[in-house]
Amino acid sequence: MAGDKPNSVVVTGAAGDLGTAVADSFLADGYRVYGGDVAPIRARPGLVASKLDVTEREQVFALARHAAAESALKIWVNVAGLFEAARVIEADPDVWHKVIAINLTGTFHGCAAALSVMAPAQGGRIVNVGSLSGQLGGLSVHPAYGASKAGVHALTKAYALEGAKHDVYCNAVAPGPIDGRMTAKFSPGTLDKIRAGIPGKRLATMDEVVHAIRYLADERAGHTTGAILQVNGGVLMTG
Ligand SMILES: NC(=O)c1ccc[n+]([C@@H]2O[C@H](COP(=O)([O-])OP(=O)(O)OC[C@H]3O[C@@H](n4cnc5c(N)ncnc54)[C@H](O)[C@@H]3O)[C@@H](O)[C@H]2O)c1
Repeated sequence: MAGDKPNSVVVTGAAGDLGTAVADSFLADGYRVYGGDVAPIRARPGLVASKLDVTEREQVFALARHAAAESALKIWVNVAGLFEAARVIEADPDVWHKVIAINLTGTFHGCAAALSVMAPAQGGRIVNVGSLSGQLGGLSVHPAYGASKAGVHALTKAYALEGAKHDVYCNAVAPGPIDGRMTAKFSPGTLDKIRAGIPGKRLATMDEVVHAIRYLADERAGHTTGAILQVNGGVLMTG
């Protein structure tokens, strides 16, 4: 607690698999969680849910102002995202614009909004959700997805550099495929190929990714900034 205000966290994409798990983790530790999503968010004690479209910059900034006015906003986690499986050769340009708008521009708005309230407060931690696809492109993935996540990795560094002037730290996790509804968009055959390519022959669990986010969100992560923490079962190693 800072003064009489509760410590708080903003989580975008809070209705999704990962957003729900991240929100629950912070709620269990007594944080007030401001959850935003275009989809309805399950109500629970300590959670302030709002309808939020991360592509709408003013909505994202309004959430930041609201959270910072009534709580001590310590952490901002940009989880909202859209994954589209596609044959690259048939990739639809309309889907391109949508994926870039949500994953990349939405994360840009989230970082900017977080910094706008954390800089005057002289401190805070931003965690973005990138992806293995941002490093690799990805098998059977719309090219916008990997491109958007590579952009998330780059903008994480831009906000880390700027944030350092204000004790605001910005990092990202880069998960490989996680067991959940997003990867259920792959065909069973593609999922088998993906699993076979991971040294441990399994997908990540939500909890493993939440733990990485919590590490980067913790003030004891201190000097760690601009990091892209890979949670991918070692898929990029060969041997
Ligand atoms: N699941 C995976 O395998 C995986 C792997 C790597 C990275 N990621 C990333 O993790 C994040 C969470 O994914 P998930 O597995 O929870 O997927 P999910 O589909 O369960 O959750 C995504 C959430 O984002 C919300 N969302 C979409 N558009 C939005 C918008 N314009 N404004 C606000 N919210 C919006 C959706 O409503 C949904 O609740 C995403 O950024 C995703 O790209 C997921």
